Amino acid sequence: MIGTDINKAAELLTAGEIVAIPTETVYGLAANAFNDVAVTKVFEAKKRPSFDPLIVHTDTFEKVKHFTTHVPDAAKQLAEAIWPGPLTLILPKKHIIPDIVTSGNDTVGVRIPNHPLTLKLLSQLNFPLAAPSANPFGYISPTTAQHVADQLGNKIPYILDGGACQVGIESTIVSFAYDVPRILRLGGLKIEQITDIIGEVELHLTENANPQAPGQLDAHYSPSVKLILTDNLSEELGKIENAKEVGVISLSSYFAEVPSDNQIRLSPEEDINEAARNLFAAMRVLDTMNLKIILAEKMPETGLGAAINDRLKRASV
Ligand code: TXA
Ligand code: MG
Repeated sequence: MIGTDINKAAELLTAGEIVAIPTETVYGLAANAFNDVAVTKVFEAKKRPSFDPLIVHTDTFEKVKHFTTHVPDAAKQLAEAIWPGPLTLILPKKHIIPDIVTSGNDTVGVRIPNHPLTLKLLSQLNFPLAAPSANPFGYISPTTAQHVADQLGNKIPYILDGGACQVGIESTIVSFAYDVPRILRLGGLKIEQITDIIGEVELHLTENANPQAPGQLDAHYSPSVKLILTDNLSEELGKIENAKEVGVISLSSYFAEVPSDNQIRLSPEEDINEAARNLFAAMRVLDTMNLKIILAEKMPETGLGAAINDRLKRASV
């Protein structure tokens, strides 16, 4: 069921049920982070492997201290500058966070999301919410309540509808488990927004073999139709016999040989933030059109472009 009733969401969560919640990045599938039985339901609904840890969401920095042992100064500065916002910090956890949330890691991913409904919901709860993106494991992340309903509707008692997500790609993850802070996932923040505040960071975008962020698997965000990421879409198109069976995702270019219904321009004005906002919905639409293949054009790497390319690359594996 989809609705906007925060009290109903709070009641269900307090009773140990799972609820989909809006954030500015993507919709999350939430459970009481202190309740391991409730969190198990999240893994089951998503068919998510237990080695892939969840992010814990709360609404104030004070509450973060209840479940982390230490917040380094740089992490604090970053949090103060950006929260509520598309930033996840990896911090040492207290025992109150059960192992299932962190896949046995002694660190926990923490985030204060920037969405009025969810912030209000969090303020009414006396526990934080463990929430991965609300999609079946490996599929495209949801940016509307309807996306969640389309795939997980029968497994979730309530979907809190907060409209379309304003950022549209997941949070940037910064780990403070090392001497130099590490970016483990590109996301809704520009790298400069981080380095301007805390200086040097290392980029450790993780791959299958790297256990630091096991959820950052190579293959992810994948539509059912094969997707090819290219920096020369015209050339790629030229290799295909029937352009009617092709879907196109571009920043602003239009390809006359492809039917207009099959092509989605993420931002005709070439606004990279708008492109990020439209990315996952575009992938979903094309995935329902019975196409043979989707060709996606590489975005300029500036601003959120790098994060968009990261998602497209994983979608193409
Ligand atoms: O924007 C977001 O972050 C969204 C919304 C719902 O907040 N959530 C999200 O969650 O993207 P999910 O589960 O799809 O991705 C969480 C990522 C995974 O790649 C996981 O490996 C990483 O966070 N992660 C969580 N806890 C971690 C930890 N303790 N150490 C390293 N990586 C961790
Ligand atoms: Mg996810």
